Amino acid sequence: MKINNELFIKSNSIPYDEFINFALYDKNFGYYSNSTEKLGKNGDFYTSVHVHTVFAKKIGEYFSYLIRTNNLNPIIVEVGSGDGSFAKTILENNPNLKYISIEKSNYHYQVQLEKLSNFSNFEIYKCFEEFKNKYKKFSGIIFSNELFDALPVKVVKRIGDTIYEVYVKDENGKIVEELKPVTNIVNDYINTYKLEILDGYRTEIRLNDLDVLQEFAESLHRGYIVTIDYGYRNTDLLHPSRKNGSLRGFYKHNLVEDVLSNVGKMDITSHVNWDVLIDAGYKNNLDVVSFCRQNEFLLSIGLLDELVSHSAMDPFSEESKLNRAIKSFILDTGISQAFDVLIQKK
Ligand SMILES: C[S@@+](CC[C@H](N)C(=O)[O-])C[C@H]1O[C@@H](n2cnc3c(N)ncnc32)[C@H](O)[C@@H]1O
Repeated sequence: MKINNELFIKSNSIPYDEFINFALYDKNFGYYSNSTEKLGKNGDFYTSVHVHTVFAKKIGEYFSYLIRTNNLNPIIVEVGSGDGSFAKTILENNPNLKYISIEKSNYHYQVQLEKLSNFSNFEIYKCFEEFKNKYKKFSGIIFSNELFDALPVKVVKRIGDTIYEVYVKDENGKIVEELKPVTNIVNDYINTYKLEILDGYRTEIRLNDLDVLQEFAESLHRGYIVTIDYGYRNTDLLHPSRKNGSLRGFYKHNLVEDVLSNVGKMDITSHVNWDVLIDAGYKNNLDVVSFCRQNEFLLSIGLLDELVSHSAMDPFSEESKLNRAIKSFILDTGISQAFDVLIQKK
């Protein structure tokens, strides 16, 4: 099998983060490198951005408020900006903001170039480092929606008193798992962030989250980091529903438990650990301004002001669609129930 030959070219077994990096971002085989639609109705999954443009509109107003009241430079940096839909709404509604998009996927990068290159205040880079080299220390806002859940993670499993790191290897053309002793780096992470892993449980080790947050903090002279994602607190790790961790695949809007299947054909994602991002933030001089559910956040920035009263009977009218989307953002049973918003400040 060609993929397996590529994947295990350097060694017989590789850690999960290397596997995920390949499955998502490899130039030839990676999910985010091929040109099939990933986001929205015709893709594999929805993000809040694709529910309705009102999501980006309200957050754009909030960004402008933060910039005005804190005297920041009018610069928004969005990392992991996908197909550029969020950026487009912000640019259309806030012509005075400079929008910097950072997108690693070649496919999404090209989609954004087509969609947004007519905005003179739009810039795009393939990685944060490229942006950092140009802007050094900047004042403004760094935003991401569902970036951290797309970063490759390591996986550990506890058996009895021992914690092992889970690796993957090829066995007669099939990818299977193998347990190995944990490295010092993984051990330090478990101790530093006080992860309690019960016997028989597995969980993710999010070293890339730490690197990415540190990079953000270092590049920010003054301003805010606004992170929206699905995640858990450390205490949730003890819950039986977390026994197998949170790593999973998404293929055509279906959840796929076996992330070792469909290599390169589906998204692989896992919940962020908010305690890790908050603690690592403090270590990088980032204070927490607020941390709450997405619906509470959207209510606090005035989402309900966008409701329109109308007499249209057509459920597909623009007014009906808008009101329905607002409802789904606000209800505890809607899309927001899974998402939290962390706002950090420097
Ligand atoms: C789950 S999608 C979310 C897209 C978009 N933010 C949205 O809400 O619709 C994650 C995106 O992050 C991008 N990405 C992952 N790691 C990245 C990194 N280190 N730098 C920039 N983009 C990254 C992926 O290519 C993908 O387009």
